[in-house]
Amino acid sequence: MNSNQIRSKFLKYFEDNDHKILKSSSLIPHDETLLFTAAGMVPLKEFFMGSKKPPHNNLTSSQKCIRTVDIDIVGDTDRHLTFFEMLGNFSFGDYFKDLAIELAWNLIIKEFGIDKNKLLVTVFDQDEEAFILWKKIAGLSENKILKINTSDNFWSMGETGPCGPCSEIFYDHGDSYPGGPPGSDDEDGDRFIEIWNLVFMQYEQITKDIREDLPKPSIDTGMGLERVAALLQNTNDDYATDIFTPLINKSIELTNSEEKANSASHRVIADHLRSASFLITDGVLPSNEGRGYVLRRIMRRGMRHAHSLGNKEPIFHKIFPTLLHEMKFSYPELNRAKDLILNILLNEETKFKQTIDNGIKILEDEIKNTQNNLFSGEVAFKLYDTFGFPLDLTQDYLKNKKILVDIDSFNKKMEE
Ligand code: ALA
Repeated sequence: MNSNQIRSKFLKYFEDNDHKILKSSSLIPHDETLLFTAAGMVPLKEFFMGSKKPPHNNLTSSQKCIRTVDIDIVGDTDRHLTFFEMLGNFSFGDYFKDLAIELAWNLIIKEFGIDKNKLLVTVFDQDEEAFILWKKIAGLSENKILKINTSDNFWSMGETGPCGPCSEIFYDHGDSYPGGPPGSDDEDGDRFIEIWNLVFMQYEQITKDIREDLPKPSIDTGMGLERVAALLQNTNDDYATDIFTPLINKSIELTNSEEKANSASHRVIADHLRSASFLITDGVLPSNEGRGYVLRRIMRRGMRHAHSLGNKEPIFHKIFPTLLHEMKFSYPELNRAKDLILNILLNEETKFKQTIDNGIKILEDEIKNTQNNLFSGEVAFKLYDTFGFPLDLTQDYLKNKKILVDIDSFNKKMEE
């Protein structure tokens, strides 16, 4: 199943089960407390809190999301992404734990044909009801239902807002991959991969210490399209799916590079192109503050990797048509914004190339003065402050030469 078919199948399944399909909302939330839409429920917050009436009691969507907390490791792993799609079903007081579990289980077993024996689930350890329901509905044995007592199984939207215990569905890729089950010390390995999170929304966090009941117990779920695509395409590498392969192939072709498809640089280029294109579509422009700064940082990180592959000409605007071709049917707004996107990508990359070339000259000169493999924090600061050459770029450049930046003195300069 390709990713477009998976998305359609998910939405159609819930539509057939009395859900109304919602279009993805913008990446820019109405909610002023958030920088970006980072989950399917974000645009639906008021429906959970009862302050607004939903168009139907049960909804389903594939929501564009941005999460940048882990941006520094995007490219180094098979799974971290800054842009992803969250498939979800939501109920505002109509059904609760039992039907949410039944619907999820039937979809993955019957519709997606995932092997039941490879699945295990987690529940919040105080949620005995969910434990019993998984046993009854899915017929899972007790050792496949793990009780977790940490915040991993209590989902909240942020410091305030709707929250509740959750239950996550994991797929076991087998012992040829390193990693332990959820809750174990090595749970972050590649073996056990979370594919779906079912949140039993019951409370609203009002302040840090005050939590109240929501008007009605509700359901919020989130399944990462890229992860489930990997699973259904027999890989555990999100970047080896049909979502990324055309972008990575184009990056290989344009950079004429010997780096393999699974190299960090091609992955970063593909992921960051997606984020940048969708952010521009939703009205963010590169700038030096707020959302625009995050966009610029994403773009420059991607462009730095393109540069490190040795290509002399801007390439992002040349990869964009491949993304457009893959995604325009699901996200027609991408097509409407295409001229703007092409323009901004080309402009930023052209300007940034000049910055990189100047910065590298200064860096090379300074490396000669480096002692004990510690690069001057003051020079790193000057590169950043005067020449627009970001610290992470300096660090990355020096990494290959086994030189570290003196961060203490960099931070001191920054404070000054
Ligand atoms: N809102 C839940 C999540 O983001 C489903 O995981």
